[in-house]
Amino acid sequence: MADDIGETGNWDQGTGNREQRTRMNRLAIGQQVASDMTSASWIRAMFEVGQKLKAQHGAANVFDFSLGNPNVPPPAAFFDALRRLANEPDPAAHRYMTNVGFAATREALAGFLSHEYRLRFDPADIVMTCGAAGGMNVVLRTLLDPGDEVIVLSPYFVEYRFYIQQCQGRMVLVETDRDCQPDIGAIEAAINERTRAIIVNSPNNPTGVVYPEARCRALGDLLRRHDRPERPIYLICDDIYRRVVYDMERCPAAAEHYARSIVVSSFSKDLSIPGERIGYIALPDTTPQREQLMGAMGMLNRTLGYVNAPALMQRVLPECVEARCDTAFYRGNRDLLAGGLRRMGYEVPTPGGAFYLFPFSPIADDKRFCDLLMEQRIIAVPGRGFGRGGHFRLAYAVERETVERSLGGFEAALRAARER
Ligand SMILES: Cc1ncc(COP(=O)(O)O)c(C=O)c1O
Repeated sequence: MADDIGETGNWDQGTGNREQRTRMNRLAIGQQVASDMTSASWIRAMFEVGQKLKAQHGAANVFDFSLGNPNVPPPAAFFDALRRLANEPDPAAHRYMTNVGFAATREALAGFLSHEYRLRFDPADIVMTCGAAGGMNVVLRTLLDPGDEVIVLSPYFVEYRFYIQQCQGRMVLVETDRDCQPDIGAIEAAINERTRAIIVNSPNNPTGVVYPEARCRALGDLLRRHDRPERPIYLICDDIYRRVVYDMERCPAAAEHYARSIVVSSFSKDLSIPGERIGYIALPDTTPQREQLMGAMGMLNRTLGYVNAPALMQRVLPECVEARCDTAFYRGNRDLLAGGLRRMGYEVPTPGGAFYLFPFSPIADDKRFCDLLMEQRIIAVPGRGFGRGGHFRLAYAVERETVERSLGGFEAALRAARER
């Protein structure tokens, strides 16, 4: 870890002391990335601690809730499609293609999305991308000029900071309310003439919170009031967990409440295939100037170095786009973990989706509490790593047994916190 460049990682040429500056100047890498590596290190740091503990105590005796890595198998339809494609080789299918992706894939996806959302999607307005991460980078680069501001609701998925920074944009963090729901008044107060976009992510990482219909509508109303044709404000919907929801038939969609919306998503979570890097950007037919946006996004997919989304995965998709991994397994983990913690005395909001719990830390210092958990060989990430102290995040895409066997440790850590 690049810990030797300072605690906070907020390196500033003007304020760093001489010794720090000298050390920075000797780095083999750029100062910006050195600083970023430090500030981005919470999840990685906890993950690495987990790896060490596993080496010491054996993997089965460490309860690692640090990473949101889907652990249920992909659906059978995915493997069926892979097998069929391998059995019917097509030498031409592995070549370069148009940067936005195969027509058949975009056609299938447009049909699927037009059913999933109360919106219409045209195949011509879809770009296949290298995951949602690739999609977010393409969208932000498409929209931002240097100095443009992007509103991000905190707590937040920390990678957004780097995506925005890579476009020389400025991330403006706006706190959500105590329930981690968008605070419409606070968002309004943050909007100014440099505001170019707002990113929303529901179900949310790190909280698992789902934004209800009324809040999505209020957000749309707000953006409409502030949108101006000469410098539009875009709503970027990171909908990657949209199909991982538990107590509702259908996840409300912010994109349905504001015309200038851009949906970014992937199959990383609902098909359980994050390693395959297959995602997309989709413009609903309400979004103005789609042709211009698509032209820019197609070019940027190439010039940012992605070129196009993986060809094999694009060919698999039409056969399994409607399938979904077993999200009931995650619900079982959620209920077991949230219920168990609550009975012990933890304050645990029930998340409506994704596979994260974001309980309140029993002591104000969330890092200190994660240390107490670690003494029980439980790896959690302090809320401050996502912009909100006083919480900790548990990624419960883990074996059921891990949850079951961890509960005693959570109880002991709570006892220890109360005693100190
Ligand atoms: C909120 C959020 N957005 C985007 C991503 C990136 O997803 P992908 O694997 O599709 O690039 C993740 C991954 O965990 C995420 O949690």
